[in-house]
Amino acid sequence: MERTQGTGQTSGLDPSPAETSELLAAAGEFVGTLMAAHRDGDVLGHPRGDDLARQLLAARPPATPTPVEDALATIGSVLATGADNAAPGELAYIPGSGLLAAAIADLIGGVANRYTGLSAFAPAAVALEQGVLSWLTELFGLPDTAQGLLLSGGSAANLTAVVAARDAHASGDVGRACLYVGQHAHASVRKAAWIAGFTDAQVRVCASADGLRLDPEAVRIAIKQDLADGLLPVAVVGAAGTTNTGSIDPLDELADVAREYGVWFHVDAAYGGFFQLTERGRQLLTGIERADSITLDPHKSLFLPFGTGALLVRDRAYLAASFAGEADYLRAAEEEPPALPDFSALGPELTREWRGLRLWLPLALHGTDAFTTALDRALDLARWAAAELAADDHVEVVSAPELSILTFRVPGDDAAQDRALARIHADGHVRLSSTMLEGRVVLRLAVLSHRTSEDTLARAVSAIREAAHAAGALGGAADGGPTG
Ligand SMILES: Cc1ncc(COP(=O)(O)O)c(C=O)c1O
Repeated sequence: MERTQGTGQTSGLDPSPAETSELLAAAGEFVGTLMAAHRDGDVLGHPRGDDLARQLLAARPPATPTPVEDALATIGSVLATGADNAAPGELAYIPGSGLLAAAIADLIGGVANRYTGLSAFAPAAVALEQGVLSWLTELFGLPDTAQGLLLSGGSAANLTAVVAARDAHASGDVGRACLYVGQHAHASVRKAAWIAGFTDAQVRVCASADGLRLDPEAVRIAIKQDLADGLLPVAVVGAAGTTNTGSIDPLDELADVAREYGVWFHVDAAYGGFFQLTERGRQLLTGIERADSITLDPHKSLFLPFGTGALLVRDRAYLAASFAGEADYLRAAEEEPPALPDFSALGPELTREWRGLRLWLPLALHGTDAFTTALDRALDLARWAAAELAADDHVEVVSAPELSILTFRVPGDDAAQDRALARIHADGHVRLSSTMLEGRVVLRLAVLSHRTSEDTLARAVSAIREAAHAAGALGGAADGGPTG
């Protein structure tokens, strides 16, 4: 780069040391305010911000600098609108709370901006990430041949797994390939199949015996039929915690079926995987150690900010077979030390952020016990809420929590459930969600934020009871259904 002779001028894009301190101080103060709001803020009740959204849609970046206070004020006004899913009362969907330590890791990682796609460029940075990944493969009882890969989320992990399974069992013949999933499999599994070239008809949605969990016998029957028809069974996909009810498919028996027919066994543990850190979770997830691949979502059950999923694969050779591309301009990579992985040759991304740091720093600063405690608490809180609701004769618990999700109904028809949800949401502190089970609307409560306290959950339970009694007073009758 040519510098202006004698002036030391550069682009002006790097602040001076004094400006850097000022910028960090302003950002630090802003983050402190956000953290305070997270401690006791409400999920709902903020304005939608339609006017602001219109202004921002019309806005374009300025040609000249904006003062940091003005930029932070804009961000602050954005964050004052919409649902705050990082607040303690988020009990909808799969809550994602976000750890400060991971956000600090992002700041450091971004400033360092080390290239971690190829290990030869930054061996220690890759080793730091690989150490965390080895902790994960060991946690799930996978052998030494296993390899982890950090991706943007569970969808990307499921896609990477489906591609590896397709290449392992139907290389070049995706037209005959079949995938076996449960009726409660996450939509990202089907999306992964479509992207990987499967048609709808090649994704066999197999029945469940109890309405909640994939029935291994149904998978066995479907595979047998497909083999008889000259098709290529590729993978059985089990869920370690379905999104709807948090139910765990019978992993050991599904592994048996997959082994029997020599197909890939993928476990989508995006929601439930990290309960493996708890004693109860390990019991419930028995069989996961037999998987060929496991999707995890640290931005769900490890409380990280959005943007981190993980895939663990039993044999790294399959990832390399699908994703090791060659490129003339990457010749320097040949110097790589063999003990370290080239992440770019094991997954779809070439240039990638140093994702390992955003796992490593929270784990280092808090220690793994803190995560075990938080996940155990989520299990306890969900059980407590289910017991409280089951004791109320105006609430029908439809699925009890196997992990930390429960579903229930209040008296009345489907419309009554929607009205009850609106009533529960009225004071804004908590947010629940709804879903469909066996053709009926059910209300759904998921505990997975490290910020959800006993007090928050007590508020949720009391709001649910109040809404259920109001529904009962309108003459609705709770009707029966499956229980977990
Ligand atoms: C079971 C399951 N699998 C996969 C996903 C997709 O993960 P992501 O949203 O991180 O892409 C989700 C998301 O909720 C999920 O619950």
